[in-house]
Amino acid sequence: MKKIWWKHGVIYQIYPRSFKDSNNDGIGDINGITDNLDYLQDLGIDGVWLSPIYRSPMYDFGYDVSDYCAIDPVFGTMRDFKRLIKEAEKRNIAIIMDMVFNHTSHLHPWFLESRSSKDNPKRDWYIWHPGINKKVPNNWMAAFGGRAWEWDSLTNEYYLHLFTRQQPDLNWRNPRVKRAMFDVLRFWLDNGVKGFRFDVINLLVKDRQFRNNPYKLRLTNPRRHDQQLHKYDRNQPETHDILKEMRVLFDSYGDIMSVGEVYLDEGVRDPHLPASFLGDNDELHLNFNFSTIFASFDCHELKTILVDWYNAIGNRGWPCHVFSNHDQSRAITRMLKNDTVKAKLLAVLLLTQKGTPFIYYGEEIGMVDGKIPYKYIQDPLGKKYWPFHKGRDKARTPMQWNATKYAGFSAVKPWLPVNQDYQRTNVTIQLQEEQSMLQFYRQLIVLRKSHEALYAGDIEFMSAPGEVMLYRRSYKNKQCIVALNFSSKVKEVNCNNTCKLLLSTYNKQNSDVHTITLQPFEAVICSL
Ligand code: NOJ
Repeated sequence: MKKIWWKHGVIYQIYPRSFKDSNNDGIGDINGITDNLDYLQDLGIDGVWLSPIYRSPMYDFGYDVSDYCAIDPVFGTMRDFKRLIKEAEKRNIAIIMDMVFNHTSHLHPWFLESRSSKDNPKRDWYIWHPGINKKVPNNWMAAFGGRAWEWDSLTNEYYLHLFTRQQPDLNWRNPRVKRAMFDVLRFWLDNGVKGFRFDVINLLVKDRQFRNNPYKLRLTNPRRHDQQLHKYDRNQPETHDILKEMRVLFDSYGDIMSVGEVYLDEGVRDPHLPASFLGDNDELHLNFNFSTIFASFDCHELKTILVDWYNAIGNRGWPCHVFSNHDQSRAITRMLKNDTVKAKLLAVLLLTQKGTPFIYYGEEIGMVDGKIPYKYIQDPLGKKYWPFHKGRDKARTPMQWNATKYAGFSAVKPWLPVNQDYQRTNVTIQLQEEQSMLQFYRQLIVLRKSHEALYAGDIEFMSAPGEVMLYRRSYKNKQCIVALNFSSKVKEVNCNNTCKLLLSTYNKQNSDVHTITLQPFEAVICSL
């Protein structure tokens, strides 16, 4: 069977500011990543998604791009990037770039031109509006606070920004914008990039008539943005046409992967929306389903989410799975109250489902959310909504490499404080401890890679005692059984046949079993 890296492999997300600082300025950089490719290779990683490293004034830490074809000096140079690509290639690791296509920075030359006058050729590259009766054009709200419309007194019109006002939205109804962005994709593909993650891809196209969004009856959340149903400022059908064109471009380059970020309205769990961006195997290759990110540690809830996800996708594409990223509290803290026994179970779930698993940097050593006092908060979201929303910095603290000062991330004080547990939770210690989280991840990935049933097989959920999730993965005549005990009680699962225990979160020895006895929160993988 031919292995396809993005389908059968394991992807790792790096938040470059926080991974490894090679030049001791307190901020992580490209060379810091290159220096640690061996670590990623030993972990069994096939692709690395880098959060944005383009030139940016950093109002949203790189998600506000001022040049899509240049590296921001804080992260290094184009030469450093080319070296990263070369070294990654040697280790069979694909580099995936983060494409922020919905908006640019307000300091991008396109926007500077666009704002300069109403008849500038780039005026229509962004979304300008004169307003209605001297008021904003509609009720759209920005995700990071306030109205989505900013008055610009230079030309006396509003421009649209669905995030901060330093992130003006592009007008994707203008074919020139599309052409320019396709050139950006070609630029990175020609430089050896093998995949793209598309930021808020479902926001690209907006309602032509700028109609008001309806309100939901849920007023406990003080963010008015979250009180709306985003009917008109996202999910417009034209987005699918753009994605189909992109797919043609990707296919012309060979084994390229695209993965989309599609957030659902708050409180809404509809896997059909994220699945719809896969088209009929002719749009994105993968799309995140954030239902797992908002789930609790509950067997029934997680199983329902997964079954619904598979059903929504059907044969129209390939699933992927994620529990943590740079925008949310880390799963170990959010779902598991920092419990490492449960974290091993969650790792088994992530790495034995059908589909591509995404690991967020530090997840493999059990890094927890940072406790960051207000004075250190950097995230614009946290600054705006403190204390209701303390921002996303807690999930972006420096990678914990060793027990030296600043956790070996940097020789100087890092841009965000290092987690207090770094002397216990770090890579160096965990490499020495046989039963550490890191060693467990490594074994788990080795196992996944050596069983076609696990990386390529079908999935079938089976009936099991309460609070136990049980499924079979099968590829041709090869089968694996995965059993996860979500309860604090010992549970027994009858396998019908004799099966061979391959891996347990309780470090049990490999053996032949007929009945699987699961300790509290234990997960096991067996072959049949
Ligand atoms: C989603 C990204 O993941 C997030 O970090 C960013 O702030 C917004 N999109 C805006 O680009």
